[in-house]
Amino acid sequence: MKRSRKRVLVTGGAGFLGSHLCERLLDQGRDVLCVDNFFTGTKDNVAHLLLHPSFELMRHDITFPLYVEVDEIFNLACPASPIHYQFDPVQTTKTSVHGAINMLGLAKRVKAKILQASTSEVYGDPEVHPQVESYWGRVNPIGLRSCYDEGKRCAETLFFDYHRQHKLEIKVARIFNTYGPRMHPNDGRVVSNFIVQALKGEPITIYGEGRQTRSFCYVDDLIEALLKLMESPGDFTGPVNLGNPVECDIRELAELSIKLTNSKSKLSFKPLPRDDPTQRQPDISLAKKILKWEPTTSLETGLLKTIAYFDALLKS
Ligand SMILES: NC(=O)c1ccc[n+]([C@@H]2O[C@H](COP(=O)([O-])OP(=O)(O)OC[C@H]3O[C@@H](n4cnc5c(N)ncnc54)[C@H](O)[C@@H]3O)[C@@H](O)[C@H]2O)c1
Repeated sequence: MKRSRKRVLVTGGAGFLGSHLCERLLDQGRDVLCVDNFFTGTKDNVAHLLLHPSFELMRHDITFPLYVEVDEIFNLACPASPIHYQFDPVQTTKTSVHGAINMLGLAKRVKAKILQASTSEVYGDPEVHPQVESYWGRVNPIGLRSCYDEGKRCAETLFFDYHRQHKLEIKVARIFNTYGPRMHPNDGRVVSNFIVQALKGEPITIYGEGRQTRSFCYVDDLIEALLKLMESPGDFTGPVNLGNPVECDIRELAELSIKLTNSKSKLSFKPLPRDDPTQRQPDISLAKKILKWEPTTSLETGLLKTIAYFDALLKS
């Protein structure tokens, strides 16, 4: 039977990006099935959606098969911060690899379109700057970050093999650093770290001299891109870089966080961890051309919204 409303599965839907995506899909009139094992996500992130008639929350670990009827799948389940993905590295690889196999198997069975939340980490510590999709990356296969980086690389391989072998309609997004409300407060990611430290008046931890650069994309911009990618022409598979190309060094970000929170925090320098990329910046020409998308939120505007969220969280 043909359903009149699209039924969309979001794995990792109770996480940071997933919860924003569920919200936007509901706004678009979709039926949303949010699947999460609550490893890093929480029910709180979707508490405001629980009474929505088109929203359903299911506790499930995607390393096990899932049998549901859906039209589209956004596969976001995977811990994304080093602290969390290194906590149980074997489970991290399983989530990326077995999780991808299970979700691709589901997509094949129900003939659903499927989107993978891949990552800029597939480029490793890049020799090419900014990173273009045709660059194959420089990843350490046996380091502490490998469970995440190689897991995501293998997931991309699986997506393309299912596409070639089983004619599945796939979309692969390589997401660069994204920040915003509902990031985990203690996950060691640089934006949440700096904001929380600044709000608490604690020293702001900088690894190395803070001259390594990152590019930060505000969550609303990123979600817009994921939705556009899912709706892109059938022959467009990606991989496509999604992120904000405006580069900012870590020290600048620390100083901006102190300024915007009116904090008295001082900078504190620690040794650079192994395999920490020195530069990371997306080339988003492909996203601009095919998706007609580029980020529109300035770092200052996005940080202010994120600060408001963490301020309320710390006060509660
Ligand atoms: N936020 C970023 O900057 C960023 C950058 C690149 C890629 N990504 C990717 O986007 C996706 C979402 O990231 P996020 O920042 O929202 O992280 P997050 O940790 O907030 O969300 C991940 C969600 O997946 C769930 N999850 C983990 N393992 C699972 C499993 N085996 N089964 C079911 N659920 C599971 C977690 O509980 C959590 O709710 C991830 O795949 C991540 O790799 C994020």
